[in-house]
Amino acid sequence: MNITITGTGYVGLVTGACLSEIGHHINCYDIDKEKISMLNQGISPIYEPGLDELIQRNIDKGLLTFSSDPEDAYRNADCIFIAVGTPANEDGSANLTFLEKAAIQIAEYITKDIIVVTKSTVPVGTNEHIGRLIQERVSASIKVEVVSNPEFLREGTAIHDTFHGDRIVIGSNNEETGKRIEEIYAPFQLPIVHTDIRSAEMIKYASNSFLALKISFINEIANLCEKAGANIDHVSTGVGLDRRIGRQFLQAGIGFGGSCFPKDINALNHIAKEFDYDFKILKSLIDVNHIQKERLFFKAKEHFGSLTDKRTTLLGLTFKPNTDDIREAASLQLIQDLLIDGAKITVYDPIAMPKVEKLFGDKISYATSAEQALEGSEAAFILTEWDEIKNLKLADIKVKMSDPIVFDGRNCFNLDEANKNGIQYFSIGRPAVKS
Ligand SMILES: NC(=O)c1ccc[n+]([C@@H]2O[C@H](COP(=O)([O-])OP(=O)(O)OC[C@H]3O[C@@H](n4cnc5c(N)ncnc54)[C@H](O)[C@@H]3O)[C@@H](O)[C@H]2O)c1
Repeated sequence: MNITITGTGYVGLVTGACLSEIGHHINCYDIDKEKISMLNQGISPIYEPGLDELIQRNIDKGLLTFSSDPEDAYRNADCIFIAVGTPANEDGSANLTFLEKAAIQIAEYITKDIIVVTKSTVPVGTNEHIGRLIQERVSASIKVEVVSNPEFLREGTAIHDTFHGDRIVIGSNNEETGKRIEEIYAPFQLPIVHTDIRSAEMIKYASNSFLALKISFINEIANLCEKAGANIDHVSTGVGLDRRIGRQFLQAGIGFGGSCFPKDINALNHIAKEFDYDFKILKSLIDVNHIQKERLFFKAKEHFGSLTDKRTTLLGLTFKPNTDDIREAASLQLIQDLLIDGAKITVYDPIAMPKVEKLFGDKISYATSAEQALEGSEAAFILTEWDEIKNLKLADIKVKMSDPIVFDGRNCFNLDEANKNGIQYFSIGRPAVKS
C-alpha cells in the first residue's frame, strides 16, 4: 500500500516515522516547504526523544520520504492519513480550515480509489463532511472511504506511545475498510477497537476530557489541602492506590496546557452546545484550570504585595518536560502577569528558549542555564519538571538567589530539604515552608 501522511507535525511526523519503522513505504507531505527541506536533510523540526534516529534510519532504508509537492504526495496514494492541526476558533469550536483545505487538495490530485484516515482530533460528524468534500470533487468512478483513527500519543513519549499504546481506535462504517487499516497497524500488536465513525471521533474527546478532569480534580483537592493543613503528596498516594481510580494524572500542579487538552475540552463543550446538551462538568473544568494556571502568581502577590521591579526567574517554559511545545503553557500566562505587574523576568528552559524569545523578544531576559537564571533573583518560579530542573540542589539555588524564595508549580522538592536549606518554599497543595 502507498501511504501518504498529510501534515508533518508532532502527530504526522511521529506516525510516519513509526509506520516506516514497521516496514511501510511512507511519504510525508506538508505545505510548509521549510519543514520538508529540513526533513530531507535528516533534521527533525520538532524535539521528540528518539525521533531523529528513527527518521534517519528509515530515510536510509528508502522507506521514508518527505515532499511538499501535492501531486507527488497524492497521485499514487492508496491511503492518506491526515494529521493537520485543528486549533481552536475564538468561540472554542475546532477550526477545520486546515483539514478542509487538505481534503480539497487531495480531491484535486488523487487518481484512484482512496481511504482517507483522519488522525487529527475532529468534532463528531467531521469525517463524513471530509468524505463528502472529496467525493463530490472527483469522478464518480473513484471510491472515497473515510476512517476516523484518533491519535493518543503524548509529546515527549510519542514514539514509545505509538509502539506501546493502550489501544488503536478505528472508526469506520465499512467493515472491510476498517480491516485494511487494522492490517497497517498489525505489526504493533496493540489492542484494536473497531467502532463506527462518530463513536471514534467521540472517544478522543471523551478520553482527553476525562484525563483533564482528573488533573483538575486533584488540583482542587490540593487547593483545599492548603487551607485544611493536609498534604497533597500523601492524599494523591492514598487515593491513587485505589485501582478503580489509578495513580496516573493525580499529580497536583499549576494546571494543564499543551496543544490538546485545553482546545479539546473547549471543542467538546462546543459540540455539546451544538447538540443542545448542557455539559456542566466540562464548563467547571475549563474554569478550574484557568484559575489554577495563575495560582503561583497569586501566591507570589500574596507574599510580596507588589512585584514591581522584583527580579524574578522562571525555570521551565514548556507545558510539560521532554517537548519543545509551549502552546498553552502556564509559563506564558505567568510571564504576561509578571510583565503587567512590572517585574523583571529572566527565563530558562532546556529546549524551548527560541520559541519563547520569538513571543516576548526583549521584554524579558534569557539565560543559558538554570544557574545563570537564578543569579541575583528574588523569586524563582518552577513551571516545568524537566529532570535538569528537578535535579537542582536547593543548597545551590539558595547560594545563587539574592533572596531564596521559590514558588514551585510542580512540587519538585522535598519540604524538609527546603526547610533545612533555609529556603522559603511555596508549592501546590503542601504546607508552605517559611523559614
Ligand atoms: N500534538 C499532540 O500531542 C497530539 C496528540 C494527539 C492528537 N493530536 C491532534 O493531531 C492533530 C495534529 O496535531 P499536531 O500537534 O501534530 O499539529 P502540528 O501543528 O504540529 O502539525 C500540523 C502540520 O500540518 C501541516 N499542514 C497544515 N495544512 C496542511 C495541508 N493542507 N496539507 C499538508 N500539511 C498541512 C502544518 O504545516 C503542520 O506541519 C491535531 O488535530 C491535534 O489535536 C495532537
